[in-house]
Formats: sequence, C-alpha cells, structure tokens
Amino acid sequence: MKKLVLLLSLCLIAGGLSAQELKSPNGKLELNFSVNHDGTPVYTLKYKEKTVIRPSKLGLESFGDKPSFYDKFSVANVDHSTFDETWEPVWGETKTIRNHYNEMAVTLKQKETERMMILKFRLFDDGLGFRYEFPLQSKLTYFAVKEELTQFAMTGDHTAYWIPGDYDTQEYDYTISKLSEIRALQESARTDNLSQTGFSDTGLQTSLQLKTADGIYINLHEAALINYACMHLNLDDKNFIFQSWLTPDANGTKGHLQAPCHTPWRTIIVSDDARDILASNITLNLNDPCKIEDTSWIKPMKYVGVWWEMITGKSDWSYTNELPSVKLGITDYSKVKPHGRHGATTANVKKYIDFAALHGIDGVLVEGWNIGWEDWFGHSKDFVFDFLTPYPDFDIAEIHRYAKSKGVKMVMHHETSASVRNYERYMDAAYQLMNKYEYPAVKSGYVGDIIPRGENHYSQWINNHYQYAIEKAAQYKIMVNAHEAVRPTGICRTWPNLIGNESARGTEYQAFGGSKPNHVTLLPFTRLIGGPMDYTPGIFEMDIAKANPNNTSHCNSTLANQLALYVTMSSPLQMAADFPENYNRFLDAFQFIKDVALDWDESNYLEAEPGEYITVARKAKGTDNWFVGNTCGEKGFTSKISFDFLDADKQYIATIYADAKDAHYKTNPQAYTIRKVVVTNKSKLTQFSAPGGGYAISIYPVTNKAQIKGLKKL
Ligand code: NOJ
Ligand code: CA
Repeated sequence: MKKLVLLLSLCLIAGGLSAQELKSPNGKLELNFSVNHDGTPVYTLKYKEKTVIRPSKLGLESFGDKPSFYDKFSVANVDHSTFDETWEPVWGETKTIRNHYNEMAVTLKQKETERMMILKFRLFDDGLGFRYEFPLQSKLTYFAVKEELTQFAMTGDHTAYWIPGDYDTQEYDYTISKLSEIRALQESARTDNLSQTGFSDTGLQTSLQLKTADGIYINLHEAALINYACMHLNLDDKNFIFQSWLTPDANGTKGHLQAPCHTPWRTIIVSDDARDILASNITLNLNDPCKIEDTSWIKPMKYVGVWWEMITGKSDWSYTNELPSVKLGITDYSKVKPHGRHGATTANVKKYIDFAALHGIDGVLVEGWNIGWEDWFGHSKDFVFDFLTPYPDFDIAEIHRYAKSKGVKMVMHHETSASVRNYERYMDAAYQLMNKYEYPAVKSGYVGDIIPRGENHYSQWINNHYQYAIEKAAQYKIMVNAHEAVRPTGICRTWPNLIGNESARGTEYQAFGGSKPNHVTLLPFTRLIGGPMDYTPGIFEMDIAKANPNNTSHCNSTLANQLALYVTMSSPLQMAADFPENYNRFLDAFQFIKDVALDWDESNYLEAEPGEYITVARKAKGTDNWFVGNTCGEKGFTSKISFDFLDADKQYIATIYADAKDAHYKTNPQAYTIRKVVVTNKSKLTQFSAPGGGYAISIYPVTNKAQIKGLKKL
C-alpha cells in the first residue's frame, strides 16, 4: 500500500533558509543542515540526542569548472515531505518491508554560475540516506567528476571493522582496529604485498562498520549505485573525518554526469543495538521498486557444482596442456590431447546431477565447460572466451536431457576474463544458448584486469556493464550471480533477478590458505548490507589436502558453523559447495542443508556483535517452519535464546545441530552433535558454540502426536 503525504512545502527567501532540521519518524535521529560562510553545504546527525556525525561538508568537484559544486551556494528552496509504504520483495529476509522516512530536499543555487543542485535527505528510524541531484537546467548540461567531497566526520577514535580501499577487489579478511591504527596497519600490510593498489594508506571500502566507545554502531555505505563510480572512503586520521573517494576510470576521471541526473545514496545506519544494523532495510528502500513485471521465473535455488574440485586443485577447468589453441583459431578440440584432469566431463556432471536429484537440490553449476581455459591460464592477458562452445567431453545436449529427466536445473558459468566488450558482443547468443538448454541462472566472473582499457573493477564505465548484464538477463528471464563485480547496493530490489554477488572474500579462500574464523560474523555487518552473497558454504572436509595433497589449506570453521551459514548469511541462492562424497560421510548433518529454506517471511536477529557472534531465527516463506543459525569467532560463544518468536498455540520439533564440547575450528572441526527436542514459544536454550563454530536448528510444527513420542521438552 502506497501512501504519500506531503507535509509541507516551503518556499522562503534564501537568507532565512541556511539552517534546517529534519527528524526521523520516531524522533530518535535528527539531521541538521546549513550552508557555511563559504557557501558549502554542511550536515550533522544526532542519535538519541548524541552527535554521531559532526559537521560534515558536502559537494562535488568537477573538472575545469570554477566554482565546483562545493561552495558559493545559497539555499533557494526547502521541501519537506513524509513517505510511508509497505512493499513485498520478490525474495528476501522478510515478507514485507516498511519504507518510512521524512524527506528534506534542499535546492542550492550558485549565483555566479546560475547552476542548481538539490541535496535530498531521507531520514528513517534506523538511519540516513542522502544524494546529490542535478535537475534539468539551462546553465548545466554535462560535466566530468574530479572527486566527490562528501564527508562523514566521526566523533572520536571509533573501532572500525575494515578492509583496505582497492579499486579491483574486495576479497580481503577484515581487520578490527581503532581508526587511529589504520594507517600503520595498512603500511605494514603493504610491505607484505597484501594491500591495495592505487590507494592511500587510510583508504577503506564500504560497507564500513564502526562502533563508538559508548556503544553506538554506525554503518557507512551507499545505495542504488547506478551510472556512477563506486565510493571508497578516505580517512583523515588526525580529525577522524572520512571523505568519499570515487573509483577512477582508466583515464583518472571519476565519472561523467549529464543533467538531469543524481548520485547514488550515501547511507548512515545508526543504532545502539547491533542487531538493528543487520535488520535495517535502508539500502533496499533507497532503491527503485521492481522494474520486472512478471517475476514468476525468479526462483531461489540451492545448487551443487563442479567447482570445489577446481578451487582445491583436485581437477582443472582446462581440458588440455596443448597451448595455445583457441587463440590460434582452433575451436575443434576433438583432435587435441586431453590432460585427463578436466572436471567438467559429462560423466562427472552426471554424478552431481544424480546427487542433486537424490537430495532435492535444485541445480548443478558446471565451470570449465567451454573452450579456452588453457589459453587464459596459459598466457594471454588479452584472451577472450566464446561462451558458446563446449569442450568435447562436455555434451551439453545430453546433460540437459539427463538433468531434465531428473528434475534438476543446470547453472551456467560465464568467466569473462574481465573482457567486458567481448562478453557484451556474445551476450545475446550466450543467453539464448542458456534459454535453449533451460539454464535459469548464470554465474559470471570478472577475473583479471578489465579489458580493453585497463579499467578498475568499480568505475562508472564497468558498473554500467554489470548493470547492462543484469537488465539484458532479465529480458531472457535469466537470474544473475556476478563474481568480482562491484559490491551490491540494494539493486536487487529493482532487479530481483540479481540473486547473488560475490564481491567479498568467499569460501574459496578456505582453499587458498584460509580465512579468519570470525569472517562470517563480519560479512553480515559489511558486505551483506548491500545484498546477498554467493558465499558458497557447506564445506564438511576442512583438511583441503584430502582433496589435493599439494594444497595444505585448512577451512577455518567447524562443520556446525558451515550449517549455520545457510541461515546467518541469508541468500536466495545457496551452494552446497563440498563434494557429494563428503556429504555422503555426514548425511545426518547434510539433512540440515536439504531442509533449510532460501526465502523468508520473518527474520529475527536474536544476538549480534560484529566479529564475535550472530544468532538469527528466520521463518520460511509460506510455512510455519523456522530455522535458527549462530556463528561465532575465535573466542567461541555461549548463546542464550528464547523461542518466543514461535506461535503460542503450537508445539514444534527442533533439531539442533551443534558443536560437540571438544570441537574447535582448527583441531576438531567435524565434532558435532544432533539432538531432537520439543519446543514451544516458552522454551529457552543455552547453547555452546566452539571457537570458529556455531549451531543450526530446524524447527517444524508437530502435526501428529506420534512424532514427539520419546522426545524431551527443551
Ligand atoms: C573466481 C570466482 O570467484 C570463482 O568462484 C570461479 O570459480 C573462478 N573465478 C573461475 O571463474
Ligand atoms: Ca572471486
């Protein structure tokens, strides 16, 4: 139900307008806006009467123009309005989402240039969104952005949960430190060759989670990143002021804008309860409503895949050692000698299809099905894939027939080798091939330097490509899961066929040396603020050498923690990433992966502290079934939850998959217990989670008394 109420529209003379105030609907957040003596816009933000953002300047610097969109402004007009609607996402953490805010649109004019800029602020109960708008006007057509000058001035030396600024990757472990420690930590990381490229020593990526000394959680990010460069933050660590730092294009320009246009929203989520940060819907609410009319083909899915075997090094994406092949125009591989380690063979794929069919898993991803991998890995920086031609041992028609006969869908893979123009040239044909063989979803990838101009991965130019791929996929009724693309900013509200992104350090790093055990307690506070992640959980064999004796990596997680990820890292697309043979060793635990839902009516965050623990209970869409997940970091955790989210008039059977008392992510990760108990909405649970551990619970209503015979009440 959409309800737009215009509260008041003020048209006052410029002089009387310099100081403005806006409150959130519940009055807990207060924004103050003014234009300072230089004519620069300035804002502050208070939460429960405490300042959380000190006076912070706003503006944009354009090339060539003087003055820029930064100073010499005066206020020409201020409009206030209120908006309140409740909408239903196609998939997500809750059935409905309330979008309720008070808005203030400040029209600024530069007398000298006769140019106009609107600052639009939306103040929700859980945070602030604001953006720059450039309406159609006679004295402004287009301009090139030198830098965006948005400030977020902190009130002290807060704790930050951060990854370094980088134009090309987000695949870092998080560091927890004071703001004042970031410079030294980044400098030392740089000498280890671990740090970012082309960035200052205090540059960070968003979504950035912060915590003040008095327990206020602040999250900085952006929403609706469309036709603009991705924002990083650069910290002035003497004054604790963050300033926006946009990703440049190959020539150093940070964007090209043509009026009428606007920037993405800059977001500040604020609460004194960490759980509110996880439950916030600001990022989605600041995106446009769904633009796809018929969404019936967008269906959440679980999948297995010919993937972990290549990631661990057990098998290969490539088919042959003979190089080069495609690059010299050889597309007929029938006479090429195979090296015998190719993963995407018809026989191997059928094994995964059989496993998926047996366990009710919706789909099978196959990587390394198309020719060219040996060329790409072998030499050519400028090599491009064709997305159409399978290797001779991958029979695409037969696999389609076989999968269909078993009720399993295939998931396409398009590794673009970051050659985006080439991908765009192939896109229609590639999507048509998917339609022909009924692939509902594509995992795309952008590994390597962006071809042809050596763009960064997050500039305006390439962001426009990612968007193009999503919108074109929608025309073909294809769901997209883009890896190495720009991190999400809630665009899945508008384009719900964007069912996943990687854009962070995923499970693959557990086979590339391992990730920190608390990584998964941070991702929901950071990367997931913008949208779901294709994290690819479900690793049951933590000793990677069992897959490949030459790989000494260890997956820093207990098995119970891996189960919990399906609940704590909500996503409409979830992989069960390990090998069928590893699941067959632990079928009782695998049952949780089979059971867990992908789409939810309700989500209740029960316990949360970034870097330490997260516990969430979610109600599966259209059912009375609940799933609970807890993950924790290095210290372990004792979780205390109440089941008061359950219906008062029902009894339920809860199956609790937990770490055994002696479990530990490093030394004893596969030690788990499974117990079944009866629960009601009066039940309470105190549950141990091991270091790097967690627990998962499935909860089903009792439909027949015989089901609970012999079971204890919790
Ligand atoms: C990186 C992706 O994240 C990974 O999942 C994929 O297997 C490789 N690229 C190859 O495309
Ligand atoms: Ca990746």
